[in-house]
Amino acid sequence: MIGRLNHVAIAVKDLAASTALYRDTLGARVSQPLPQPEHGVTVVFVELPNTKIELLEPMGADSPIARFLERNADGGIHHICYEVDDILAARDRLKAQGARVLGSGEPRIGAHGKPVLFLHPKDFCGTLVELEQA
Ligand code: CO
Repeated sequence: MIGRLNHVAIAVKDLAASTALYRDTLGARVSQPLPQPEHGVTVVFVELPNTKIELLEPMGADSPIARFLERNADGGIHHICYEVDDILAARDRLKAQGARVLGSGEPRIGAHGKPVLFLHPKDFCGTLVELEQA
């Protein structure tokens, strides 16, 4: 059911320093910072040949990323995103198998303008999983 790895999201405290690390130390192509107030984050996309890394900096104290960074002071992998062909069919199949879909269970528009859902980390090996409509 799941397809390509769309991105790995890394929570960071200092977006400018983290962007410089990926650009200058690791030699990656990076985007400009993209504020996403509806998700409480500012994002930089790191473009790799086969996938993307998203650097997420919290926007505001009640950002979910701010809470993550309270527990992970150095930052860390926040979620991984898999593509699915049909997000509603994927959701229904997962729910039927007992997986927990976060929030209302209705897809929201994610960072790339496509519908996304998040799955409970306790149901997926301790990793927050995002599904994105391919
Ligand atoms: Co994501």
